[in-house]
Amino acid sequence: MSAPEVSGGDAGAVEPHDAVDVIRAKRDGGTVPEDALRWMIDAYTRGYVADSQMAAFAMAVLLNGMTRDEIRVMTDAMIASGERMSFASLGKPTVDKHSTGGVGDKITLPLAPLVAAFGVAVPQLSGRGLGHTGGTLDKLESIPGWRAALSNDELFAQLADVGAVICAAGTGLAPADKKLYALRDVTGTVEAIPLIASSIMSKKIAEGTDSLVLDVKFGSGAFMRDVVKARELARTMVALGTDSGVATTALLTDMNTPLGLAIGNANEVRESVEVLAGGGPADVVELTIALAREMLALAGKPDADVEAALRDGRAMDAWRRMIRAQDGDPDAPLPAPNETHTVTATSAGYVTQMEALPFGIAAWRLGAGRARAQDPVLHAAGIDLHVKPGDEVVAGQPLFALLGEDGSRFERALDALDGAWKIGTDAPARTPLVLERITA
Ligand code: URA
Repeated sequence: MSAPEVSGGDAGAVEPHDAVDVIRAKRDGGTVPEDALRWMIDAYTRGYVADSQMAAFAMAVLLNGMTRDEIRVMTDAMIASGERMSFASLGKPTVDKHSTGGVGDKITLPLAPLVAAFGVAVPQLSGRGLGHTGGTLDKLESIPGWRAALSNDELFAQLADVGAVICAAGTGLAPADKKLYALRDVTGTVEAIPLIASSIMSKKIAEGTDSLVLDVKFGSGAFMRDVVKARELARTMVALGTDSGVATTALLTDMNTPLGLAIGNANEVRESVEVLAGGGPADVVELTIALAREMLALAGKPDADVEAALRDGRAMDAWRRMIRAQDGDPDAPLPAPNETHTVTATSAGYVTQMEALPFGIAAWRLGAGRARAQDPVLHAAGIDLHVKPGDEVVAGQPLFALLGEDGSRFERALDALDGAWKIGTDAPARTPLVLERITA
């Protein structure tokens, strides 16, 4: 078995330019010539362009935007700053999924083994959570023994054998993005769509997947609250993937309400296993199936019967093999909370709202997420919802339960949830979970 080919870390011969000229060009609404833009990213990665100069450039991009060509060059320059993987010798199609993140978003867990059950390789290089959106690796680390760090050889062997891998992304992919993203975080420039698109897509393209499906979320718990901006981000990323030779489509999906009934880590694994067993909450099943269909269509299997693979145990078999391959025990009991606190309905009626962001913040305050990259997470902490918007309830009926290591964090979590859920006399109008499909 050979390892994936890894190449790169070479931006090629880049002629020197003046950072101030590059900043001025963008500040004045012009376009930056390709060689100057490549130089800017390379020189910044090497420490020749200062943080202050890159911050000014990022702000100019936020205010004045970038052309499609500039975004392509920027992405390409960030890819060239690190290594590039290739799974060409694997002998099967590779397809990946990226979600822009949301509350209760555990879809990667059932999705990767489901797609792999059809003979497609799914290299899902993931991260840990920061703030109110959870991280896929944190969720999987609830499983006793499971290991996130794989060598390139292990990754390749598991893709060849099981087909599905969810593991930690190595630090060698797009190091320019790592530096730039940290700078954007402290300079109010995270929200620039060209910078978000090039950041996400540089990592995904460097990873070497043949095709990619993007789950771009809008709404209260999403990175992009506004649907118009989320659509623009989705279109930009689809164009970037396509221009770079990665077949890319996107689904625009609603993140105003948490996905499923579990928000946390261990409870999200439990819910994912329910989906793999042919059950689970309707919204998690719907999105898993919609994304699996997109991925399989890009991998040349448009007629794959995705529902059947959930019903007949093929997806569950792939899950168990995927967990075992990374030293996890799929049969081991998951961490359980020591204390719970249940919130009940104060009146009868219909649940009209459960707003994703406050539920995400509350789960985070309970310990399910982290405030700093080096903090640990409490795997058993989180929130179990008992109802969802549209459900009819009676007074005193349990609405949701806070799960904690002890009760000391419940008060701060309840503060975050003040006004987050509502009960009204009329059933709310149903809104689609998948709003749009975006193609090149
Ligand atoms: N996620 C990323 O990886 N980059 C961004 O810029 C925003 C979200």
